[in-house]
Amino acid sequence: MARTLISGGTVVTATDTTAADVLIDGERVVAVGSDLGAQAEQVIDATGRLVMPGGIDVHTHMEMPFGGTFSSDDFATGTAAAAWGGTTTIVDFAVPEHGESLQTTAQRWHQKAGPKAHVDYGFHMIVREVNEQTLADMDALVDQGITSFKLFMAYPGVFMVDDASLFRAMSRSGENGALIMLHAENGGPIDVLIQRYLAEGRTDPVNHGLTRPASMEGEATHRAIALAELAGVAVYIVHLSSTDALNAVREARDNGVAALAETCPQYLFLSADDLARPGFEGAKYVCSPPLRPKPHQAELWNGLRSDDLQLVATDHCPFHFKQQKEMGLGNFAKIPNGLPGVEDRYTLLYDGGVRLGQVSLNRFVELVATAPAKLFGLYPRKGTIAPGSDADIVVFDPDTERVLSASTHHMNVDYSCYEGHHVHGVPEVVLQRGQVLVDHGKLLAQAGQGKFLARSRTTL
Ligand code: URP
Ligand code: ZN
Ligand code: ZN
Repeated sequence: MARTLISGGTVVTATDTTAADVLIDGERVVAVGSDLGAQAEQVIDATGRLVMPGGIDVHTHMEMPFGGTFSSDDFATGTAAAAWGGTTTIVDFAVPEHGESLQTTAQRWHQKAGPKAHVDYGFHMIVREVNEQTLADMDALVDQGITSFKLFMAYPGVFMVDDASLFRAMSRSGENGALIMLHAENGGPIDVLIQRYLAEGRTDPVNHGLTRPASMEGEATHRAIALAELAGVAVYIVHLSSTDALNAVREARDNGVAALAETCPQYLFLSADDLARPGFEGAKYVCSPPLRPKPHQAELWNGLRSDDLQLVATDHCPFHFKQQKEMGLGNFAKIPNGLPGVEDRYTLLYDGGVRLGQVSLNRFVELVATAPAKLFGLYPRKGTIAPGSDADIVVFDPDTERVLSASTHHMNVDYSCYEGHHVHGVPEVVLQRGQVLVDHGKLLAQAGQGKFLARSRTTL
């Protein structure tokens, strides 16, 4: 493979911003500095551009079964869209069928991803029940590079596990080095509210949010952290959406407890007002936890600045509006939960985060690439630009203005949550392991060229 020079740009990592060239040999970065040109056969001109690590999205659901249907992106369409959007690594959630062994699920997910992925990928494993077999399977999966497990405190009868099961899984992770990730909403009372609302004829999408109050996310987050503290392990809260939950994480961290959390673009840029759009339009915004009233957004930005929230992932879980979201016409509880977003995260966070002064450019890189790599066992191979790291690089044009739309995005979904949203910035050239995946809007990546990443255990 030829040596490539990315020349004339501003190289940005989580710690530094430097005018420098980047020399790539094969799959790896070999030098960052000046006067490197003579060593390269191929040059990518990055004049006026930011040269940043490829994005790492640690929360995606490709072809995920949910409520009698499947999320509409598979590994082919979803990872191509990720590449277009500057994300070069995803970590997807493998979902066991009822009673299926976690080992079998892992094999199924390898079969789904391997021939299709355009970018590198790893897996988390969802755990629906905790017994001797699943605990033993967890040990084995950690050794195979699947080092994180998601359990649910919501969706009774589908995914929800009880506190004893959570505690057992957490205790085991103390022995095998895995990281337990939690969907923290108290599913019991939420389900009672849902039944009550439906009985009262309150069936519109807005009721999805009203039946899942932030207090129930705060309560579950607090309980999750208390259980993890009792087990003596770290815990990671996924898709944190509210001040209530953030306060639980903050309080724990202030007391030296290892509580970690992500938030998602939808909680930073969308709100309960979107769920309340007229007619059935709000169904486009149904996800769990639900979009919150706007005042929560400022608190989440505070959390991202103070490192009470460590990173931003998408929870990409798209369903078409036609026929899929429409399954919930007349009953909000039947609207499949989830939003599309894998393509938009990098630019949305740059535009709404860096350009609007919410976070520094270096913190942006940390949130979208470096911290995900560190927390999920991929660093320093991924998540930075340094000699020895994989050459996963985004040459980012920070100035070009564009309008996000379903008519131009590449995700396999018939609407955009950000339709008409005006942004600055475009991932112009996207490289993975030295190969150009996307060049000025043209996809060069092939399905199947993404590699499975056996991840290390999290070290804090
Ligand atoms: O609504 C959501 N978040 N759908 C995806 C599944 C999950 O809980 O992450
Ligand atoms: Zn979840
Ligand atoms: Zn999710």
